[in-house]
Amino acid sequence: MLNRLLHSNYFRAFMIFFLFLVTILSSVAQIRKQLNFNQDWFFKLDSTQSYLNDSLFSKWRRLDLPHDWSIEMNFDNHSPASSGGGYLSGGIGWYKKEFTLPDKDKGQLVFVEFEGVYEQSEVWINGHSVGKRPNGFIGFSYDLTDYMLWEGKKNVITVKVDNSKQPNTRFYSGSGIYRPVQLVIRNPISVGYHGTFVKSLHVDSQKADVQLQVTVDNKYRKIENIQIRSSVFSPQGVQVLSFKQGLKLLGNENSLFSKEITLDHPKLWDMDTPQQYKFVVEILKGDQVLDRHETKFGLRSFIFDKDQGFMINGRHLKIRGVCMHSDLGALGMAFNKSAALRQLKIMKDMGVNGIRTSHNPASEQFLDLCDSLGFIVMNETFDVWKFKKNPYDYHLYWDNWFRRDFEDHIKRDRNHPSLFIWCLGNEAQEQWHSKADGMRIPKILASLVDSLDGTRPTTIANNEMSKNNPVLMSEAIDLVGYNYNHQKWSTFHEDHPGKKLIVTESTSALASRGQYDLLSVDSMSIWPERWDIPFNGGNTDKNISAYDHVHAPWGSNHQTSLRVFEQNDFISGMFVWTGFDYLGEPTPYLWPARSSYFGIVDLAGYPKDVYYLYQSVWSDKTVLHILPHWNWKQNDHVDVVVYFNQADRVDLYLNNRKIGEQFKSVDRYDAVFKGIPFEPGELKAISYLHGKEVKTCTVVTAKPAYKIKLTLEQNNLKLDENELAFAQATVVDQEGNLVPMATNEVEFSILGRDGEIVATDNGSTTDHTSFQSTKRRTFNGKSLAIVKGSKKGICRLIAKSKGLVSDQVEINFR
Ligand code: GAL
Repeated sequence: MLNRLLHSNYFRAFMIFFLFLVTILSSVAQIRKQLNFNQDWFFKLDSTQSYLNDSLFSKWRRLDLPHDWSIEMNFDNHSPASSGGGYLSGGIGWYKKEFTLPDKDKGQLVFVEFEGVYEQSEVWINGHSVGKRPNGFIGFSYDLTDYMLWEGKKNVITVKVDNSKQPNTRFYSGSGIYRPVQLVIRNPISVGYHGTFVKSLHVDSQKADVQLQVTVDNKYRKIENIQIRSSVFSPQGVQVLSFKQGLKLLGNENSLFSKEITLDHPKLWDMDTPQQYKFVVEILKGDQVLDRHETKFGLRSFIFDKDQGFMINGRHLKIRGVCMHSDLGALGMAFNKSAALRQLKIMKDMGVNGIRTSHNPASEQFLDLCDSLGFIVMNETFDVWKFKKNPYDYHLYWDNWFRRDFEDHIKRDRNHPSLFIWCLGNEAQEQWHSKADGMRIPKILASLVDSLDGTRPTTIANNEMSKNNPVLMSEAIDLVGYNYNHQKWSTFHEDHPGKKLIVTESTSALASRGQYDLLSVDSMSIWPERWDIPFNGGNTDKNISAYDHVHAPWGSNHQTSLRVFEQNDFISGMFVWTGFDYLGEPTPYLWPARSSYFGIVDLAGYPKDVYYLYQSVWSDKTVLHILPHWNWKQNDHVDVVVYFNQADRVDLYLNNRKIGEQFKSVDRYDAVFKGIPFEPGELKAISYLHGKEVKTCTVVTAKPAYKIKLTLEQNNLKLDENELAFAQATVVDQEGNLVPMATNEVEFSILGRDGEIVATDNGSTTDHTSFQSTKRRTFNGKSLAIVKGSKKGICRLIAKSKGLVSDQVEINFR
């Protein structure tokens, strides 16, 4: 009977199922945990004493990360952060968090991983220091294992953040633990920190040769023999490859596993098909899965050619890029995925396909977004090398830290398919002040890229173009990077025979959204006149006209640099300074201006007029845009500019009378109708191609302000720490037309407790109202509220303004 049972099919099936269960359960027990560690921190801002041993921290302010305390400060003319830092101060902040871990994790390694803490951080676990990191832009991981308390005992992690020595950057840096944190619990034998690399060796449409690299940590003292199971999944989730291989790990060492594989007919990553593969590595010991780790990667081929510029997957493509600082406007540096996604989508709609992460490592999730949206990223690590730009900047740490910081940056980012270029520095002072370092540093940095990556070119953003620039002389880098100097782009090959050009930074034109001085469009203002002479000119209200006729002396207006770039195929890419306005660096002004004028889009995310200029040249969209607004005084003579594409002619009508026509010229992207005598009513542009109407656009004279109109940019949001709703408030007249110069104070509120207004903004560079205020004046007719949901369901946002009809919108959080 027993014999019969043992040989029955039922019994066999049961045993297979049982073994399967055991395998699953044993693996589940061991596999790494990556825990979101952002919730329930306690925070205290105080530079006067140490709080390392303060156990009464539950009385401190409770908050969730990411957090930037500087954005909560008042704008202060006397702030040591000065204009560069947007007059928002730093100080010393302390963060603490209590946590327990289940006893079943005892024997595992426990790491805390910070993505970015600005700056000079030190971390303690239960009173033991586990490390310091001066650089505020690079992530780090600390091993907490030896100091962990188990059996339900509470562990306390303490982080000191010292951003008291200012200025330490040329732009707003924020202060605090401003990027996400996670707790990683993994086996003593497991994949190391940033320990995988899928290195493309050769990619074409037929096959991709890639090398899989895995760094395996062995925290045991003895030799361990393990098996590595590598599996690759296609973008559609189909397993296309899987194999096992043994690896001998030395005691207390990291060992590198590496294997070359070939993938046939690869699905290529491209701008319109940003598809990614997945590499899954499992570490096995006998039947036990000790670790499982996933890495996304993308396959694409690309070259930079001295004559043809950039080619991706065999196709010529100009990299039409923008520089982006890491701040998210009213949210400061506190990273939020939906805010970053919003920025990138606005850029993509404009026709942008390239992003330069000026001048520091971006957040990891920002790069994930670039991967999945299909951007070409120029990844930058340093604004400063050994020679200072500010008294307390990175030059203080360069000697001791640059290698470690740069290596960590390369290892963190090298799997991102959107990453195409390493930019090793920006306008380094070594260009002028140290021939030896100017030649030596690029070589060291480039050799680190070669050894840790080896699949992407390097560049450096230079603003000194003479042959005596040691950085250029070093010959260490692959692409010659020009900041500005558009007059020298066309003749680049005369100065650098055989070399490849990328415009790492261009333009630096200045404008305030919706602001127009009645000067001729062709009257170009250069503000400041020279970089080294204080600027006393400009407008008394510190606004700048948006006709694309004001720029910094080192750059040009938008049209000029854009034209040179577009007319020269060999220029592989150009990154306009900047896609968005950013906090700090209010060139050409100082206080009360506190944020930049360089953006194609303002700080609140509202496009300035030149957005449509780029869109007309860089995107497939049919564009017809008129500027300025049409609310002027009788007898004013107004230049009217039209940005248009896919057409060869534009006709202009005023109150249904044709008042002019312009043909597309090879020298200009716009059509200009000079000195139109103002009369109230409707200004209408119609574009034509070969006599056939393409598009119509009108601007009307707005009547008095009547109502605040609320519009949600997107709805039906996930209730999640990363999801924010962006609600636009516009002052309109009775017919719904934007009142272009309206400065009405809007009071935002949420009905009940269904949500929270986390910030407001209006894109003005001089508004000193706190970004957390729920009251915000409109700037040129617009303001913005940023809302976070508190529970699932409908959250009602209300906007009121004295003397105007109110409005409300329903935000659905699911
Ligand atoms: C560049 C610099 C940028 C920014 C810009 C403003 O020279 O690289 O960081 O300062 O000027 O025009």
